Amino acid sequence: MIYFDNAATSWPKPPEVIQAVVHFMESVGANPGRSGHRLSVEAGRIVYDAREALSELFNVPDPLRIVFGLNATEAINLALRGLLRPGDHVITSSMEHNSVMRPLRALERRGVELTVVSCSPQGFLDPADLEAAIRSNTVMIVLNHGSNVVGSLLPVREAGRIAREHGLLLLVDAAQTAGAVPLDVQADNIDLLCFTGHKALYGPMGTGGLVIGERVDVGRLEPLKRGGTGSRSEYEEHPDFLPDKCEAGTPNAVGLAGLAVGVRWVLGRGVEHIRAHEVALTQRLIDGLREIPGVTVYGGLDATRQTGTVSFNVAGLEPSEVGLRLDEEYGILCRVGLHCAPAAHRTIGTFPWGTVRFGLGYLNAMDEVERAIEAVQRIRAADQYSNETLHGEDV
Ligand code: ALA
Repeated sequence: MIYFDNAATSWPKPPEVIQAVVHFMESVGANPGRSGHRLSVEAGRIVYDAREALSELFNVPDPLRIVFGLNATEAINLALRGLLRPGDHVITSSMEHNSVMRPLRALERRGVELTVVSCSPQGFLDPADLEAAIRSNTVMIVLNHGSNVVGSLLPVREAGRIAREHGLLLLVDAAQTAGAVPLDVQADNIDLLCFTGHKALYGPMGTGGLVIGERVDVGRLEPLKRGGTGSRSEYEEHPDFLPDKCEAGTPNAVGLAGLAVGVRWVLGRGVEHIRAHEVALTQRLIDGLREIPGVTVYGGLDATRQTGTVSFNVAGLEPSEVGLRLDEEYGILCRVGLHCAPAAHRTIGTFPWGTVRFGLGYLNAMDEVERAIEAVQRIRAADQYSNETLHGEDV
């Protein structure tokens, strides 16, 4: 079996991550920050270790400004719904996932103004277009770092510079890049960094969070939920300090135990090293797929400008059929369709049928890439006498 669905979630997980989860379940198990006994203290230490590891990875000055939640979607919802008010103007890109688009469209119905800046058909954003969209009431720029459809990297550092110059906040959705592409909240001027734990941080599902920069007015940030925090228990009012303000209820400490080890596993290898391996695999995949007549590869076709996510179509075949045959005949697991990102597919011209997506990860190897190229070649060859085009598109 070849697992090429790392853009959806990474698999397999490093054995150390699995051991950390089992260790927590077997030997810690208590509620962090609550009860004060030795196991509760140990659980709290493990959760804090996850904050410290992430601070190191993203260069966050204060680990307590990292708030944990279920995933990047929850972090994005917290930041957007917590900070945007009717009359505010926000700018985003046409390459966003629905985790950004859906909360923004809902806020638009409540009076938040939204500009969606068009990206190129290769999935890239010109920072000048971002700057041109700024109005007197603009308060925030919201961008994904790497597209989950074609992997294109958006100009986060330039966006950070523009945001600073105009007094705006920059929110970055790093679901696809945290752990796979270098990110530095200080050098990149990122005010709100949304990450998930289960992709390139190699942690369990149900872990993720939001890094809240110093320029964010925490007093204005409305939490998504309120409740028990283990702190200030004498008050019926929810605490106003981080991270407790945004972390009501028992956290996913078992997941965070795994995440802490996943992040340290990434740090141990180094993001630059991980990136170099993924770039080499990705470039070979792009080049190999492009050599197959009848296969169209989307995006910039330059692995140094994208993540390990590669989208393509085979002439005359629905993406779902290609995906099914890859799975059933070749044991290659990928994701097909619209990838919860209709705006991105409109941008690259593949809406509504979508693409076949290979999501490479650090644990993939070059021989898997070669076998996948050969599998696509064979699938295409089996259909080579078909004169059909896919949805009228000459692919
Ligand atoms: N957002 C994830 C993906 O693109 C689940 O597959």
